[in-house]
Amino acid sequence: MRTRITDLFGITHPIIQGGMHFVGLAELASAVSNAGGLGIITGLTQRTPEALLREIERCRGMTDAPFGVNLSFLPSLNPPPYAEYVQAIIEGGVRIVETAGRNPAPYMPILDAAGVKVLHKCTSIRHALTAERLGCAAVSIDGFECGGHPGEDDIPNMILLPRAADTLRIPFIASGGMADGRSLVAALALGADGINMGTRFVATRDAPVHDNVKRAIVQASELDTRLVMRPLRNTERVLNNRAVEQLLDVEREKGSTVTIDDIRIYVGGVYPRVMMDGETEAGAWSCGMVAGLIDDIPTVAELIDRIMVQADALVRGRLGELL
Ligand SMILES: Cc1cc2nc3c(=O)[nH]c(=O)nc-3n(C[C@H](O)[C@H](O)[C@H](O)COP(=O)(O)O)c2cc1C
Repeated sequence: MRTRITDLFGITHPIIQGGMHFVGLAELASAVSNAGGLGIITGLTQRTPEALLREIERCRGMTDAPFGVNLSFLPSLNPPPYAEYVQAIIEGGVRIVETAGRNPAPYMPILDAAGVKVLHKCTSIRHALTAERLGCAAVSIDGFECGGHPGEDDIPNMILLPRAADTLRIPFIASGGMADGRSLVAALALGADGINMGTRFVATRDAPVHDNVKRAIVQASELDTRLVMRPLRNTERVLNNRAVEQLLDVEREKGSTVTIDDIRIYVGGVYPRVMMDGETEAGAWSCGMVAGLIDDIPTVAELIDRIMVQADALVRGRLGELL
């Protein structure tokens, strides 16, 4: 399948693995790229720019195919040294960066000069237009369904994607709620040039996370996610658990006066405990509504192959036969 995204990134299938904190390590990124998609290392999971450079080298040792690095600009009391992370990406020879959280304006000149293509992930058409104006090569449109940070507009992909198709000139991919060949064909029908998946890739054999995490996703239904940190305008869609229920109780009690300090124990330092140690109840961790469509733990290669086989059968079979 050839789309503007496969051409842009030099990949075989229009399937991208979004950056994921403590999940997007070289093991997963290389598995996705080796299977013909685009794998992405999560920059800030590496504690220093030097560690990121080493992770990039490790990934290069595991695949000859293109892969990218995610750089998330999220609210933080002690912002990481972003410019140094950007430098590590360039020095590491990576030519694709996925940005998220805030637009990459300050880093566009240096990324451009180094020939790095920027794929900006955003949750609204106005932000996508800004990315286009800034010179991003493509955008990922993250609908309200998505795991992680869906923004504050709450517009699902059924509306966002055709709006993006009508508005943008640069290629875009559908992110949030994507799981299988049906998702891919639907996204293409709505005007996207490919898909980005997060939660679905966590529940694969190649994801370097504890089995408890994969099992929790398989067991969850589409009803099992919650939105936390909405009063802080830093909304995150997470898998429900006891810690999340306690966090939401605190948010309800404190109302608009809630601060990050009131909920820090439920959101701070949670990812390593969940992803590495398998403490799935340790706090709030991102998960999409798409968990309701996930009921197995295939390898990344099996997953991507079956998405493409199903998409082919849908287009040639069910859809073609309707005409
Ligand atoms: C466990 C997990 C961690 C994530 N961490 C990040 C992150 O650090 N940076 C980022 O830009 N997106 C992050 N995301 C969002 C994904 O890259 C992707 O946009 C999202 O999962 C798409 O929705 P889906 O889960 O329905 O596929 C994370 C998602 C999950 C499930």
